[in-house]
Amino acid sequence: MIKRLTPILLACVIGIAVVGYFVGLSDGVPKPAGLSGAGALEASWLPGGEHHASVSAENKVVPAVTYGQIPGAAMGPTAGFQASAKMLPQPAYDLFAEVHPSEAEKAESGKIRASRRAYNGAPPVIPHAVQNTTDAACYACHSQGMRLAGLKASVMSHPFLANCTQCHAPPPPEPFKGADTGVQSSFVGLPAPKAGKRAFPGAPPTIPHSQWMRQNCTACHGGPNGWAGMESTHPWRTNCTQCHAPSAVLDQAIPAAVVPMLPPLEVVAE
Ligand code: HEC
Ligand code: HEC
Ligand code: HEC
Ligand code: HEC
Repeated sequence: MIKRLTPILLACVIGIAVVGYFVGLSDGVPKPAGLSGAGALEASWLPGGEHHASVSAENKVVPAVTYGQIPGAAMGPTAGFQASAKMLPQPAYDLFAEVHPSEAEKAESGKIRASRRAYNGAPPVIPHAVQNTTDAACYACHSQGMRLAGLKASVMSHPFLANCTQCHAPPPPEPFKGADTGVQSSFVGLPAPKAGKRAFPGAPPTIPHSQWMRQNCTACHGGPNGWAGMESTHPWRTNCTQCHAPSAVLDQAIPAAVVPMLPPLEVVAE
């Protein structure tokens, strides 16, 4: 009995599959709505003077073409496309406005900065979600500094370095939020400096940190997007090291092997 039914059953299944295949082919295929019939494309280069449909700007469907036809095909961006990012209107910054750095703000800024770094001088983690991690995306907000929604994007303190996320870690993806991904390490960084040394009260303080990755002084010490409390009173100055002495030791400018009597790394952590 079962032996006789099996071929019938199989025939039914195959029959339904074949019918379904043709029903599927004729049904549910989206009809291209945006093609205008006119062969507007200059296609004189195509073999045999082939023409194919141009694309209307409002209702764009890109017609499929062969690889050979791609260079001449109407595949450009839609009408609304802008090649460069439109800058949001930014508040004007007065370089010569009087600055009164406050100690309380400086302490608060120091706390935020420390919370994003494994140790002093480490690249800060990215404190916001990033969907697009290309350099251009980061650069759009962090090259000049961008103010939006009450936040300000800090200016890069270093020159342009490709591959931002090589050093700046983005937040973990959703499933790994809260997962303990820390790696045990006995490394301890130097304490963050509080202030530079002064020859006398009123003298320009020395730079209490290395200049590595901090070439753009006004990224932190003033300018429109500097850190509150860390502003200098003279952001208009152009050559900071004219008055503020850098430290060869902190900059590790002289190898210790050459000058063995170099004092140990010293940071005023007062
Ligand atoms: C839409 C603008 C925008 C884009 C794009 C953007 N950021 Fe930011 N970023 C900000 C803002 C605003 C802050 C400040 C957030 C805060 O203070 O809470 C910030 C903070 C940071 C900080 C912390 C700075 C510090 O010193 O504390 C880092 C690092 C950073 N972003 C890196 C990146 C990287 C890398 C990318 C690209 C993958 C990127 N950002 C893309 C706006 C942006
Ligand atoms: C080779 C590693 C490296 C790369 C690549 C890199 N950075 Fe940095 N970045 C650093 C370090 C280190 C600091 C911290 C400087 C400090 O605080 O001493 C820093 C600081 C910053 C800051 C914070 C300045 C502040 O206010 O404290 C921003 C913003 C930033 N980088 C953005 C970027 C962007 C955007 C890119 C890509 C175009 C990028 N960085 C590429 C290492 C890197
Ligand atoms: C990534 C941020 C950052 C950059 C860029 C940076 N600094 Fe600093 N600087 C600090 C921090 C943090 C301190 C610690 C004291 C403080 O909070 O003001 C400091 C302290 C100083 C001080 C001592 C201030 C005082 O009150 O004694 C001087 C002077 C100084 N920096 C000069 C410079 C110069 C010059 C440059 C450019 C070559 C520079 N800094 C770049 C973050 C930065
Ligand atoms: C013509 C010399 C000179 C130049 C150039 C100069 N500074 Fe200063 N800076 C001083 C003096 C003097 C003080 C001490 C002011 C005081 O104690 O009242 C000072 C103080 C500071 C402080 C400590 C906070 C404050 O204002 O007291 C910072 C931070 C600082 N300067 C950063 C910078 C940065 C960043 C630049 C480059 C944009 C720069 N300075 C260029 C002379 C200079």
